[in-house]
Amino acid sequence: MITLKVNGAVHRVDAEPDAPLLWVLREELGFTGVKFGCGAAACGACTVHLDGEPARSCSVPLEAAEGADIVTIEGLPASAGLPPGSLHPVQRAWIEQQVPQCGYCQSGMIMAAVALLKRTPRPSDVEIEAAMTNLCRCGTYPRVRRAIRKVADRA
Ligand code: FES
Ligand code: FES
Repeated sequence: MITLKVNGAVHRVDAEPDAPLLWVLREELGFTGVKFGCGAAACGACTVHLDGEPARSCSVPLEAAEGADIVTIEGLPASAGLPPGSLHPVQRAWIEQQVPQCGYCQSGMIMAAVALLKRTPRPSDVEIEAAMTNLCRCGTYPRVRRAIRKVADRA
């Protein structure tokens, strides 16, 4: 048994210690906002926060996540102290800028953007480029950058 803390709740999980965190979050715990893209830490679709840092959950073994504060997109507003039913400012900017197309990559994008803005509230274009290495098959990169700038301008 491994104990995970996800979005503020504790879960006891019966899985192998080296199972990818991604699978447990999706299949066992039902956090389907965490997406599978490449399985090789390359695309970022599976990005969650581990103790506030972005992590590609397809490549994090379960045992490495034990004891960490894990946040998925489902728990993002609450992690920022917002009440149930509200959206995180980055999610609101995503809607305002109409960022998603198919949407598959977008929860990972948002989790990466939130981590960036927490670290660097007013990132330069170069810092955005360096931090946002998530892949989007629909090519939403210009809108992603616009949405990040919107949030930064309000900071
Ligand atoms: S599925 Fe994890 S980085 Fe692509
Ligand atoms: S919005 Fe379709 S993959 Fe990014």
